[in-house]
Amino acid sequence: METLEKKIHKLAQLIVDSDHIVALTGAGMSTESGIPDFRSPETGLWTKKDPYEFASINSYRANASKNLGSMLELGLTIFKSRPNKGHRSLTKLQRMGKLEGVMTQNIDRLHQKAKTKNVVEFHGNVMEAKCMQCRNVFPITTMVNQALKGKEPICEECNGLLKPNAVFFGEALDSKDLAAADGMLKNCDLLIVLGSSLVVYPVAFYPHKAISGGARLAIINIQETDMDSSADVVIHEKIGEVLPKVVNLVQTKIKEKPKE
Ligand SMILES: NC(=O)c1ccc[n+]([C@@H]2O[C@H](COP(=O)([O-])OP(=O)(O)OC[C@H]3O[C@@H](n4cnc5c(N)ncnc54)[C@H](O)[C@@H]3O)[C@@H](O)[C@H]2O)c1
Ligand SMILES: [Zn+2]
Repeated sequence: METLEKKIHKLAQLIVDSDHIVALTGAGMSTESGIPDFRSPETGLWTKKDPYEFASINSYRANASKNLGSMLELGLTIFKSRPNKGHRSLTKLQRMGKLEGVMTQNIDRLHQKAKTKNVVEFHGNVMEAKCMQCRNVFPITTMVNQALKGKEPICEECNGLLKPNAVFFGEALDSKDLAAADGMLKNCDLLIVLGSSLVVYPVAFYPHKAISGGARLAIINIQETDMDSSADVVIHEKIGEVLPKVVNLVQTKIKEKPKE
C-alpha cells in the first residue's frame, strides 16, 4: 500500500507533467462548505429523503409548492454557503496555469464564488429560476418569496410555472453544456475527479471518455468508486485536507523545474 504522502507526491507530479488538466466535481466537493451530498453514509440527503421524489420533474409538476417546501432547507443551506479550501485550491491551480476548467455536477455555484473560470454546470444551479413555459431565466429571489408563502411560483411574463434552474430527475441535460464539456475534454491529458460517487449518468461517462481520449485519471473521494481501478492515483481522503497540499507541492515543483 502506498502511503498518503506518496500519493500526494504522485498526483502533484502528474499535474506538473500535464498540460491540459480538467477537474470533474461532485457533491463531495461542497460537503466541507456544509452542503450535504447525496450518498455519504449517515449525512447524505439520500439517507433522509428520496431525491427521485423531491427533485423529480414529475412530482414538481404535480405539486410544486409541496416540493419547494422540501427543497427550501437545502436551498437556504446553499445560499448561505461559502467556498471551502478545496474550491480555493482549484482557483489557485488555475491561476498557476495548471487547470483549464471545471465540469461540475454541483448546483451551488461555489466554484464561481471561489473565482474559478471556465465552469460547465451539467445540472444547472439554484441561484436562478427558470420559467417552464417561456424558458426565461430570473434571479432565484423572484420565486423564493412566493415559495415561502406556500404559493406556486408564477412567471411575471407569461404566468407559467417557475422552477429552480437546476436539472431535476427526469429532465434532459442541456446539449450546450454537454458540448462545452466535450470541448474541454478534447485535449485533456489529466482528469481529476473530486467528490463524486460517479453513479449519476451521463456525467459518470466522462472519466471513461477522458481515458479513451488518452488522459490520465486521478480521483480524490472518501469512498471507493467503480473507476478507482482505472485511475493512476486514488486518494480516499477529504478534498479540503488533501488538495491544498497537492497544489502547494505543485507550486514548489514548478519553481524547482529547470526552464526548457
Ligand atoms: N453541492 C451541491 O451542489 C449538491 C449537493 C447534493 C446533491 N447534488 C446533486 O446530486 C447528485 C449527486 O451526485 P454526486 O456524484 O455529485 O454526489 P454523491 O453524493 O453521489 O457522491 C458524493 C461523493 O463524495 C464523497 N465525499 C463527500 N464528502 C467528501 C469530501 N469532503 N472529500 C472527498 N470526498 C467526499 C462521498 O464519499 C461520495 O462518494 C449530483 O447530480 C448533484 O447535481 C449537488
Ligand atoms: Zn414565463
